[in-house]
Amino acid sequence: METPVPVRPGSPAAALAGIRLRVNGRECEVPTAPRTALLHVLRNDLELNGPKYGCGLGECGACTVLIDGVAARSCVIPVQAAIGREVTTLEGLGSRRCPGPTQQAFIDCQAAQCGYCLNGMVMTVEALLRRNPRPTEQELRNELHHNLCRCGTHVEIMQAALRAVPLRAGRSPLSEPPEAQEAQP
Ligand code: FES
Ligand code: FES
Repeated sequence: METPVPVRPGSPAAALAGIRLRVNGRECEVPTAPRTALLHVLRNDLELNGPKYGCGLGECGACTVLIDGVAARSCVIPVQAAIGREVTTLEGLGSRRCPGPTQQAFIDCQAAQCGYCLNGMVMTVEALLRRNPRPTEQELRNELHHNLCRCGTHVEIMQAALRAVPLRAGRSPLSEPPEAQEAQP
């Protein structure tokens, strides 16, 4: 039996009924209203700050998490919709000391300026690679099309997305064909 993730004492959710979730492989119980946005529960109650609050309207992608392996915008998903499903946040892909391959690709390419959009970029690429381990550059572009980066770091983000393909498959990026190693601006 796994130990539930504790809720911060004194949080506003403390007086509400518990909702059981499975997040990053752990069971947790969060006292919160069923219609609270999943993003707020992750950040405020579970202290998982990988997903970011950007637009709050499901449009920018900063809050992206995986629900049963599929990219989802947690700012517009009520927490009750995640009951009985596997939620994965950026923290679930790896750690600072041991980043997952998709995270490592973004680190290698230094694909950030302010970094605020990167959670969404990483999680969106991860979701694509889970269902399609060898996407084309165009498929990666299509997938990231609705993730906004206000800093204009798109070239580096595409380089990182392309690098993530071989890394996640356990191959050396150097073994990839040249056209898959460098994103075109
Ligand atoms: S904060 Fe969720 S899509 Fe922008
Ligand atoms: S790096 Fe700043 S929003 Fe993308």
